[in-house]
Amino acid sequence: MKYGIVTGSSRGIGLATVELLTKDLEFNVIGSSTSGNNPLDNSNFKCLELDLSSSDSIDKFVENLGDIKLDFLINNAGVLLEKWDASEINMEQLKKTFNINVFGTIELTEKLLPLFTPNAHVINITSDWGSFSEQNFDAFQPHYKMSKAALNMYTKLLAKRLEDRNIIVSSLDPGWTQTDMGGKIAPRLPKDVAIDILNLLNNDVESGRFWHQGKVREW
Ligand SMILES: NC(=O)c1ccc[n+]([C@@H]2O[C@H](COP(=O)([O-])OP(=O)(O)OC[C@H]3O[C@@H](n4cnc5c(N)ncnc54)[C@H](OP(=O)(O)O)[C@@H]3O)[C@@H](O)[C@H]2O)c1
Repeated sequence: MKYGIVTGSSRGIGLATVELLTKDLEFNVIGSSTSGNNPLDNSNFKCLELDLSSSDSIDKFVENLGDIKLDFLINNAGVLLEKWDASEINMEQLKKTFNINVFGTIELTEKLLPLFTPNAHVINITSDWGSFSEQNFDAFQPHYKMSKAALNMYTKLLAKRLEDRNIIVSSLDPGWTQTDMGGKIAPRLPKDVAIDILNLLNNDVESGRFWHQGKVREW
């Protein structure tokens, strides 16, 4: 049996991921949403309330996990608060974005570290928009892009730190995907990304890498 967490499992990529993982009864998955509700109703799945912008909520989430060991953590929950054509810095939005995509995600991960089994896998869902090597770079969505770039650096740092425990830490760029965040005309479907995540979990991969559709990509 493999035990793990997928944050932000109520919609989009997170929902498709818990649907795919829990088809296999070898997986026992805890998901999260800000309300605690989830459309998925499987015996090997439960959803807990989690608001990554609140330390109290993170503490309660970890407390509610009880006495378990974790084989994986998929840090999928995230927000994109700015409009598609926004390039100006809005300090309130920047702080809100970092509170969820960076500070809350890191705080949760750090509080879960004692629960990880040897060979556990942490996958941070970041983005090509958090990449320094992106060819089609533009000035839009600055808060989101900076937050995903920061999370990519956390992947590299944590991978180094956890080398001795044999814990794998990866970033995954899903590509533009049809969700509430990605909109309706995106080329990828949430279930395509769920397959990428499952493959990454099932493979014995090198730690501290940035993945896209099964291949290592440039940071
Ligand atoms: N879609 C794309 O094109 C795309 C591309 C690159 C990267 N990504 C990344 O992929 C991940 C999933 O994106 P998505 O497109 O599936 O997004 P989505 O459909 O908007 O779903 C976002 C998920 O995050 C949760 N969430 C939002 N605010 C939260 C908070 N304060 N605390 C905890 N959870 C919170 C939501 O829970 P509630 O339902 O309770 O609000 C929901 O489950 C994100 O990290 C995103 O940045 C997406």
